[in-house]
This record gives sequence, structure tokens and C-alpha cells, in this order.
Amino acid sequence: MFATRECVQESQVMDLFKVFAAVSAMLFMAFVDCAIVNADQTKVEDFDSIQLYTLRNSSGMTVKVTNYGAIITSIMVPDRDGKFADVVLGYHHVEDYMNAVDKPYFGAIVGRYGNRIAFGKFSIDGQDYKLAVNNNENHLHGGVIGFDKVVWKTALIQGDDWTGLELTYLAKDKEEGYPGNLDISVKYILTNKNELKVEYLATTDKATPVNLTQHSYFNLKGEGEGTILDHELMLSAKRYTPVNSSLIPTGEMPVVKGTPFDFTAAKSIGRDIQVENEQLAFGLGYDHNFIIDRIGEGDGMVLAARVYEPTSGRVMEVHTQEPGIQFYCGNFLDGRLKGKSGKPYVNRGGFCLETQHYPDSPNQSNFPSCILKPGAEYRTATSYSFSTSK
Ligand code: GLA
Repeated sequence: MFATRECVQESQVMDLFKVFAAVSAMLFMAFVDCAIVNADQTKVEDFDSIQLYTLRNSSGMTVKVTNYGAIITSIMVPDRDGKFADVVLGYHHVEDYMNAVDKPYFGAIVGRYGNRIAFGKFSIDGQDYKLAVNNNENHLHGGVIGFDKVVWKTALIQGDDWTGLELTYLAKDKEEGYPGNLDISVKYILTNKNELKVEYLATTDKATPVNLTQHSYFNLKGEGEGTILDHELMLSAKRYTPVNSSLIPTGEMPVVKGTPFDFTAAKSIGRDIQVENEQLAFGLGYDHNFIIDRIGEGDGMVLAARVYEPTSGRVMEVHTQEPGIQFYCGNFLDGRLKGKSGKPYVNRGGFCLETQHYPDSPNQSNFPSCILKPGAEYRTATSYSFSTSK
């Protein structure tokens, strides 16, 4: 027998989202293709088209998700004494997600290609493609209007011991320069065991690169509670993909042993972060893809990362079917952004563990392929499990 579970769609649809709709309608229209615009340019705004959903499990853990960017805005989990805190960075107003300084992609689903593609160029079957370029000379996280900046359709879903939200979006052929109409479904599934599972599914009508990931920034002490440098991180990764100065992989896959990139045994994120090292200098800290250890060629769920925060006792484990994980430790945060509770998000005030194919895969034939072909399915999952330890 399972305890009671509920999935609450917030009826009040947070005031902030309504305020946003009124104040930034112009912006909204610019961002969102599917907003309602009559042929004569009369604007008809759906005030409720941006919504916030709360998933709640039987032990009181909640996850809030908005259909703008499929963004996770909050994850409330207990510490070792049962005290709940919000462990992801984010904003209180949807327009802040839209206008964010330096675009941190808090909590969003990024795509069509999460991470960088060198010069925004690649070719498939002899055909050259040119993507929108939005990170110096490179393409990052799907381009100027990536999946983090569109409105998704939603449906509440439910199982015996979980509650969830499915978000769907149809990315059009040539959107941000990508080939093919891409039909995407992302399911957020919150189980009664304090596990948040993200299931991705996509199909296309032309061969295209696809690399979807979740871009939450975690601070297991609670959002806005200082840096994450004392969090202890274990990565199941004996190798990583070093980068050049514009954060594009060089193609090498050296072992981490004997370098600051060795997290194979848990160590604090801050322990080696100041070590003199060219890779750390390029990333301004850790901003690198790690190759997840796998036995054989299978793509089943494996433990990719475990993070422990000593003062609260909170633990997060990341399991995934993906071959890589980008460990980014909030190097671009500088205290200018104020979070949900009004506290500044300081440098290294959150870390991301973005499960993914390796950056720039479309141009690096020695990396696992990220090309989805018509008739095939892009199907992958990642889970974030929360618990506590002494
Ligand atoms: C990713 C990238 C970082 C940075 C953040 C967003 O994690 O690897 O370099 O662009 O997104 O700020």
C-alpha cells in the first residue's frame, strides 16, 4: 500500500507569473512563437499561459515546474533533522528567467543541443548546417531562443507511487538553424522515495543533433546559502574531455588521475579548485564534461555522481543513461543576481550536473554520436535522488 500522494497544480498560478504577463507582454510575444497573435496584429494575451505546477510526494518533498522553458523553479527536500530547504537556484518572477543577466539557464531544459557546438557549424551526410551563434563564436544550449525560452504544453501524469508532469514541444525545422521538426516530450516524475526522474523522448523527420539536459543549479545547504565549495562530490568518471580556451573539447580523453579533475573518490569541490592548471583557468573553475564509467557498451542507468553537504547532511545522487556529465560550478555567478529569497547568488553559489552527450559531438567523430535519424527515437533518462547522511 502506498501513502497518499498528490499533484497540485497551483490554482493561484503565482501572482508573479500574472504580473509578468501584463508587464512584459511585448517580450513574451517576441520569445514565444505559439503566443496568440491575430493576423491584424491585435494582441490577445493569455494571462494564464505561463503556469507553475507543484508536484508533491507522500513524504512532503515538492518540485515546482513552470511550462516556460520547462524550468524547475524549486525543489524542497529535508535535511538530516527533517527541516526542508529549497536546494535549487532560481527566481521569484518569470520575467527574471527571461531577462537574466548572463543567462545562467537556472533549472531549464536546454536544447536542441545542450552545451557547445564549435562555430555553430556541423554537417550531416555531406550537408552543411549553420546554427545561431550565442556564446562568442560558438553555439551554446540551443541558441538565441533555445528550449529554455519557449512555452511548453503540459499534462499531469500519475502512477501508483509517483506523480508527474509531462511537457511537450515541437521544435520546427530550421529553428535556430537545426534540421528537422523535432517532437519532444520531457517527463518530470517525482516518486515517493524522494527521487526526481527526468525522462526524455524525441523524434525527428530529418537527421539532426539532439542533446537535451536539465540545467538546475544545486546548493544542498539551500539556495542563497553561500558557496558550494564545501560540498563533497564523487563522479564515476576516470576520464574527462579537456577543452580549448573557448570551452570546446580538444578531442582528447585523458585520465583524471593525478589532476584536480579526479573526483573518483569523494572530495570537496573547493579542495583543488585553486590549483594552477590550464583547464581550470579556461573554465574559471570546473566547467567540464566527464566521461561516465560504463562497463561494456550498454546505456542503462548508472550512478554518475554523488554529492554530500556536511552541515545539512543532504545527499543527492545522479543516475543516468547518458555517456557524459558536465560539472559546472557556477563560475559565472558573481553576486549580482538575487535569488528567490532575495539573497545574492555568489560566485560558485550553485553547481550543475548536466547529463549529456559530450560537447561538440556533431564535429568530433571519436565521441558517441548525438545524431537522431527519422524513424529512430531519442530516449534517455536521468534521476536525482535525495536522502540524508550523518
Ligand atoms: C553550461 C556551460 C557553462 C555556462 C553555463 C551557463 O554549464 O558549460 O559554461 O555557459 O552553462 O551559464
